Amino acid sequence: MRDHYVHMKEVLKRYWLVACRESELGRKPVGVTVLDEPVVLFRTGQGIHALRDVCPHRRVPLSKGWVKEEAIVCPYHGWEFSGEGVCRRVPGLMDDDRCKKQIRVTALPVRVRDGFVWIKLREEPGGNEEAGGSGTKEPFDLSFLRDPSLYSFIWKVEVKGNLVNAFENLLDGTHTHFVHAGLIRTDSNRQQVSAKLTAHRDHVEIEYSGESKQAGLISQLLERDRQTSYGRFFMPGIAQIEYRSRKGLSMLITAVARPVSEAVQDVYAIITVKRGIVPNFIKRLVIAPFFKTALKQDLRIVELQQNWIERCGEGRLVSTEADLMRPFIEQLTKGRYYEKPLEREVQLLL
Ligand code: FES
Ligand SMILES: [Fe+2]
Repeated sequence: MRDHYVHMKEVLKRYWLVACRESELGRKPVGVTVLDEPVVLFRTGQGIHALRDVCPHRRVPLSKGWVKEEAIVCPYHGWEFSGEGVCRRVPGLMDDDRCKKQIRVTALPVRVRDGFVWIKLREEPGGNEEAGGSGTKEPFDLSFLRDPSLYSFIWKVEVKGNLVNAFENLLDGTHTHFVHAGLIRTDSNRQQVSAKLTAHRDHVEIEYSGESKQAGLISQLLERDRQTSYGRFFMPGIAQIEYRSRKGLSMLITAVARPVSEAVQDVYAIITVKRGIVPNFIKRLVIAPFFKTALKQDLRIVELQQNWIERCGEGRLVSTEADLMRPFIEQLTKGRYYEKPLEREVQLLL
């Protein structure tokens, strides 16, 4: 997996990656780690800025400093840097004009959209991003967060696992009978489901049909009739599960990763439901505990897997046809594009 990570990092750096939510960024600077790179985010009157989180003077993290007017101040000797990373002041130096011009911190491109702050760790040379996937040009589309007919709530979890294993877990149906026994599905109560996978450029979707409501508690309590459901993986680390009834969308679960390091992902989990007569806070009160329980069960199993891999290495994994999503997540994170849509269909007992 080590080689995969080294390679994946370079691929992911070309994409817009989530740095934080807008609401997490107040007046104080915030330090985050994205693909092992320390990044500081801060607000000035001009907007939100992202710089490499290190002072070039003596390598102190700028995120431990503060914002003064349009600049971030290093907490050690007070050097000041603008949102573009240009040094504005070297306190103590009689004439700091000459050296200021040469001192810089790397500034990263920032986009603020639908309540999330996105950054890019590497710009394509000459701004030519034609070769990349859609996520290299624009941050992932979360505009459903603005849809007045939908209600979403978001929370953040830390996953101790590599990106491929974390996302395979989210999108894999075959573990749900065991890890979430009784909550999502049960082993003794399976249905034949047809799973049709389509890989497009830099995302992959599985459409599940023929499955009615599941025997698990979540399904029984929260779903009407299930018609179709979808599992999707998008570069650079976004998963989506969508349940549809005859009346349209019943629930959408979106997981957006901030890849921290090889073994850690911060994931923003967004649960979206239709607005209706039941007040939103009640919906949240009812739904959240189920998802938090399911999430805890997943976090545990992925961490067990990660610990084992760190001790003994991943080696060659044995897979079957039922592990539909895995090879595509691996390929996409290695930088492969599916120029022509690729399709695959299997029958599963879910
Ligand atoms: S380390 Fe930042 S000003 Fe000296
Ligand atoms: Fe799970």
